[in-house]
Amino acid sequence: MKRGYKIAVIRGDGIGPEVISEGKKVLEAVSELENIALEWVEYPHGAEHYLESGELIGEDTLKELKKSDAIYFGCIGDPRVETGILEQGILLTLRFYFDQYVNLRPVKLLEGVRTPLAGKRPEDIDISVVRENTEDFYVGIGGRVKWKGKGKKRDELEIVRKLYNIKFGVDIETDADELAYQIGVVTREGCERVMRFAFELANEKGKKKVTSVDKANVLTHGYGFWREVFNEVAKEYPAIDTEFNFVDAICMWLVKNPEWYQVVVTPNMFGDIITDLGAMIQGGLGLAPGANINPDGVSMFEPIHGSAPKYAGKNVSNPIATIWAGAMLLETVGEKSAAERVLSAIEAVLREGKVRTYDLGGNSKTSEVGDAVVGEIRRLS
Ligand code: IPM
Ligand code: MN
Repeated sequence: MKRGYKIAVIRGDGIGPEVISEGKKVLEAVSELENIALEWVEYPHGAEHYLESGELIGEDTLKELKKSDAIYFGCIGDPRVETGILEQGILLTLRFYFDQYVNLRPVKLLEGVRTPLAGKRPEDIDISVVRENTEDFYVGIGGRVKWKGKGKKRDELEIVRKLYNIKFGVDIETDADELAYQIGVVTREGCERVMRFAFELANEKGKKKVTSVDKANVLTHGYGFWREVFNEVAKEYPAIDTEFNFVDAICMWLVKNPEWYQVVVTPNMFGDIITDLGAMIQGGLGLAPGANINPDGVSMFEPIHGSAPKYAGKNVSNPIATIWAGAMLLETVGEKSAAERVLSAIEAVLREGKVRTYDLGGNSKTSEVGDAVVGEIRRLS
């Protein structure tokens, strides 16, 4: 009996469509060998669809997506749409609606890839970053306040009033001065679940240490709490070592000593930042995948790069991040062996080094990389 999965596809903007085509090509090829049947359901959501219809992603679509086993996502962002609209209205909406509370981002240097870090080899860079994905500064609570008169007392008074009035949408409208604020929220449950995921992942992968990232020395309320919860959760896993890194310090040490890190668990905002840094040390954004996981629900897989409008439709972008995200999709739905085959094929293509896109110093086409990965999957089987 074939095992079947229904996969919703949102190609999105810019280079999204072309990198997703390569991902689908590879997943189809491995499925054939693994006796898996994939049913693809394509969705048009992205800038074009928004400009035509005014829909970002509506409740009806979200309900329909709920019936799929996974979502395969390209990328979004378009110069015609004001920044933030598509990001919040589509990508973050999906992460929040499906409560994909883990954003798992492997930072792994594959053989044949150059890292900008002098002297570091593949065995030195192999980190699983577990980014919290539904809280922190991403909750979208904030606003602007205008008020008459100056002075600190006055500011504080107005902010407090505004905070208490968030629910009622009351603005204090005058013309004298202005401020904007954004609130980060971390909850006990939100921390515990993502931290447990990190420890379980360490166990599964035979890793010995989990590093927790925060800024508890300054943002004492939110990240002090994060640290406190981490200490409690760590007690459930006495066999695994733990440490804390301030976010500024981990940015420094990831560059100097990436080999120190195995599993890193981080609040949302800091995770966003350190995984771009991570992408660079693993050879570039063209190689960095991400999995938005809800272990009990619908998960979503995407490259972490943006839509690169300048390269759209040119068939030159690196599809490896998207193909790798496809491997994570397979692993998450339970097809471990298929996932391993895809990753081995990616590694073989990079090691060989003949087929590579411009970002890796080559001049191969996007589609040629997909073909090469398919070739390796078949050759290695
Ligand atoms: C990412 C992106 C998103 C984020 C944006 C596009 C909302 O930068 O996936 O890392 O900040 O999470
Ligand atoms: Mn990011």
